[in-house]
Amino acid sequence: MKKLFVATFLFCAATIVPAQSVVTPAIPRDAALEAKIEKTLQKMTLDEKIGQMLELNLDVMGKTNAEGKWELNEAMLDTLISKWKIGSILNAPATRAATVEQWQKWIGLIQKKSIKYTGIPDIYGLDHNHGVTYTQGGTLFPQPINLGASFNTELARIGAEITAYESRAANCPWVYNPVVDLGRDPRWPRIWESFGEDAIVNSKMVVAEIKGYQGDDPNHLGKYHVGTSTKHYFAYGAPWSGKDRTPAYLSPQMLREKYFEPFKAAALAGTLTMMVNSASINGVPVHASYEYLTKWLKEDLQWDGMLVTDWADINNLFTREHVAKDKKDAIRIAINAGIDMSMDPYSVDFCVLLKELVEEGKVPMSRIDDAVRRILRVKYRLNLFDEPNTGGKGYEKFGCDEFAQKSLQAAEEGIVLLKNEGNLLPLTTHSSPLKKILLTGPNANQMRCLHGGWSYTWQGSRAEDLAEKYNTIYEALCNKYGKENIVLEQGVTYNEEKQYFDENEPQIQKAVDAAANVDVIIACIGENSYTETPGNLSDLWLSDNQRNLVKALAKTGKPIILILNEGRPRLIADIEPLATAVVDALIPGNYGGDALANLLAGDANFSAKMPYTYPREINSLNTYDYKVSEEVGTMSGAYNYDAKVSLQWPFGYGMSYTTYAYSNLKVDKAAFTADDVLTVSVDVKNTGSRAGKEAVLLYSSDLVASVVPDNKRLRDFTKIELQPGETKTVTFKLPAKSLAFVGADGQWTLEEGDFILKVGDQTVPTACTKTKVWSTPNI
Ligand code: BGC
Repeated sequence: MKKLFVATFLFCAATIVPAQSVVTPAIPRDAALEAKIEKTLQKMTLDEKIGQMLELNLDVMGKTNAEGKWELNEAMLDTLISKWKIGSILNAPATRAATVEQWQKWIGLIQKKSIKYTGIPDIYGLDHNHGVTYTQGGTLFPQPINLGASFNTELARIGAEITAYESRAANCPWVYNPVVDLGRDPRWPRIWESFGEDAIVNSKMVVAEIKGYQGDDPNHLGKYHVGTSTKHYFAYGAPWSGKDRTPAYLSPQMLREKYFEPFKAAALAGTLTMMVNSASINGVPVHASYEYLTKWLKEDLQWDGMLVTDWADINNLFTREHVAKDKKDAIRIAINAGIDMSMDPYSVDFCVLLKELVEEGKVPMSRIDDAVRRILRVKYRLNLFDEPNTGGKGYEKFGCDEFAQKSLQAAEEGIVLLKNEGNLLPLTTHSSPLKKILLTGPNANQMRCLHGGWSYTWQGSRAEDLAEKYNTIYEALCNKYGKENIVLEQGVTYNEEKQYFDENEPQIQKAVDAAANVDVIIACIGENSYTETPGNLSDLWLSDNQRNLVKALAKTGKPIILILNEGRPRLIADIEPLATAVVDALIPGNYGGDALANLLAGDANFSAKMPYTYPREINSLNTYDYKVSEEVGTMSGAYNYDAKVSLQWPFGYGMSYTTYAYSNLKVDKAAFTADDVLTVSVDVKNTGSRAGKEAVLLYSSDLVASVVPDNKRLRDFTKIELQPGETKTVTFKLPAKSLAFVGADGQWTLEEGDFILKVGDQTVPTACTKTKVWSTPNI
């Protein structure tokens, strides 16, 4: 035993390589800009510095008048800025979208007073999350989960660029997006706000979006770009209970290898700010973690951006998390941990208490200066000192058709075809006689489930008056097939009075009766719009009413097309076999109805793939990168230990109206070491008769490792377009170090041994010939 220990020790010692040099700053510094920051900082009093660190909700400085119109209370705004010197304001009045003109007026006034009383412009922030959520008449895109399904990073970049333009048209320089929380638990109500369960998909998407939002130079953002707040740093998407803002318990390997990766990518891509996860990881609230906030981000990555809390989260350190005895204690913990700005929506207590803490020596002045430097840096980088207001002339494209077309394209590329027996689809408009359709289900004729949460309002629940001009699925199908060919009988509807998931008394028999005279049934099922806590569930199964509707309709013998329109995969294992075709529309946005009609009719081709694993049963909530020991058929011997991963549809699965053949998968190196870059190529041919786009996904499997390896891991992806009969060669450049894992000792490790690379149905072996263990936290 002792001998073995010595031998192991020697082996490890021989292979550890010296620490790499200090990482270069995530955003290269601009000396002139830094000099301006220092000059401004030198002139500021402690009160002014602390004021910069507070962000208030707009609602505290306004109210709704007798006619029901929200008005800014100028006297209150005056007090808040002249007395408390607050540096940031957020949100839409009562979380309801305002017009461009209102934003121009309100933010313009805030800037005027900020400059008058503090000499420093305000930084106004809005949840313009998948388009300009809080600005009427702007462009809303599909939710990020659909962009994840599109596997098209260019679409993500373009969407972010348009959102930046439209935000600046409304005089807003800062958006609380992108979201890269890795939706790895289907019970969590916010998985649709990120790009799905995989770290590489989220990392590539966040880099593309940051480029779209911020442009190419994070030190100098032009007037058509906005600062990003990548959120929610980090591991928010894995609550143990499945409920929002509840604790996560994750291994150090998982944290470093998966959850941290997209935030690291965002920091290195120059995200100006990040918003912090409201919950705790392994018992430590992230807002209280020096390790995660300061060490991992600000020191290890040399990221010089600004960290803002999520909603009232410093208060939560004592009210919810019980790691602080009162608000003052909570502020001490959070600011010392590395928080730069407190989103304390309704109170200025922060200013009083933080000043006391500084005077008592409990928060060092150096920490205050560091935080304020970071805040000023964002404001300088956004050019707010020289140009505090934007909008008006030069923003004529706000809400234009060109932007709408991009949203439609993103919707078409983000809707997944999961089943199509006997080629029931497309329901071509060119066939004769045209098929008569029964359209049923609660999602058949309302906008709010198509655009989801963070659309005009926080919960996306005011679609009727604010998204009137867009087409529901019913309207889009009537436009496509003619109203006379669509019978609408929903059978189940949501109770809009009670909100969220409550359904009215079902009228299933009416839908069954209506099916008598049709050729095909389209059942639009899923969820209403929601986000955060209101989206918490106690049961992942789709509601009994909706499943009973499908079961009753199946008895008619008419073919059923299921359209899933939901923010997370609701269990449907008992009704899926009753359907001839299944389409997962996820949350496709304002043009989702039109996109779906185009796809069903075959006027557009499907090209999306699942951004998360769709579970079949509640005790198999796996992600695609599960361990081999969780698989069926891996064990032999006296006992059967098979855990039987049982999936409805795997991550990366999606069909098309055409077919593709993969061949000639090659890797240029049969043997490699850590510093190599592998060139992996594969031929992809469109073997069908229609043009299409194909997401090409490169996976790797590490066959034997000292930490139980994942069965496979996505390493890269791209999307190509192919005409019928056309072949393209796709080439990936894969740095060998990207095959490393975080070992039991917390260090990045690439072990000698065999790997398999996989693309489509092709596999190719390669091998690492020399173990390397990195002593730096990031490689
Ligand atoms: C959400 C954030 C959002 C913030 C500001 C919080 O409740 O968790 O995602 O950016 O509110 O509206």
